Amino acid sequence: MRDSHDPPEAVFADAPWTALPDAALGRAGEVPSMLTSRERRLYVWLATHWARGAGAVVDLGCFVGGSTACLAQGLALAGRDGPVHAYDRFSANESAKEKFLYASGVPPFEGSDTLALAQRLLAPWEGRVALHRGDILDQHWTGEPIELLVVDIAKSTAITDHVAAQFFGALIPGRSVLVHQDYLHNVQPWLPVQMELLKDHFTPLAHLAPHSMCFLCTRAPDAEALKRARTDTRDAGAMLELLDAARRRHALPAADRAIGKMMENLRAHPGLRDAGALRRRLRRSASS
Ligand SMILES: C[S@@+](CC[C@H](N)C(=O)[O-])C[C@H]1O[C@@H](n2cnc3c(N)ncnc32)[C@H](O)[C@@H]1O
Repeated sequence: MRDSHDPPEAVFADAPWTALPDAALGRAGEVPSMLTSRERRLYVWLATHWARGAGAVVDLGCFVGGSTACLAQGLALAGRDGPVHAYDRFSANESAKEKFLYASGVPPFEGSDTLALAQRLLAPWEGRVALHRGDILDQHWTGEPIELLVVDIAKSTAITDHVAAQFFGALIPGRSVLVHQDYLHNVQPWLPVQMELLKDHFTPLAHLAPHSMCFLCTRAPDAEALKRARTDTRDAGAMLELLDAARRRHALPAADRAIGKMMENLRAHPGLRDAGALRRRLRRSASS
């Protein structure tokens, strides 16, 4: 059994969240989500066992609250108030509604607005959740320290840089955990690029298949470091070099495969910096 004196790398290497009983998830396991059940457990564990109330808990890209519910459930188990600050535009298209909402038992509804649904689904954690609606590019963080930062919104280089500029400077060295939920997603090559540029500020702690990577903040990046770590200004050649360095640094078969695929996609479509556009272009190329 590990204790609070063990180095974070050793704590995370044991993947202690996998031992959480189903009961720990409570009703958070019922909120529709794009998370795997392992990721749900990780979020409950992070908020219950890792967080000590040293800073805020922030969920960027919460969809209808699946990730938020797990974090809020963890805070509730730990007897902390929170709230979890959850950001999203709270809008879903027909295909996301079909695939993630109706398939999970949400009754069909008209339109794309999901805010009322998220509020209803998160009612069991009322008071432990603060929803922030709108385009993330228009949102600004207060500067308050952040202990847990979960990112599933960095679908473009512009958003990736905005998230870093707003939230990364508030992370607490040696304490704050950043989860990049799309880190190994092959249509978001800018994420390993960003973290390679910030390798003196973050160290990888754990990979959760298929795409999530947890990082410990070892040194809070200042404005200068964040400027140097911008992804939006990189051309494909620079990104390929950084991806190759990230791949070698991780020395992990899953990272090797995923980053290799990102490099292939970037070579095929060197100008695309938006995951949706890249995915559509890859589909079109595959079907022609
Ligand atoms: C993959 S989903 C998040 C899944 C969620 N964490 C869960 O537990 O199911 C990504 C979310 O990011 C949101 N998003 C993407 N781009 C955004 C933007 N520019 N502003 C606000 N929200 C955005 C989408 O609305 C979507 O709900």
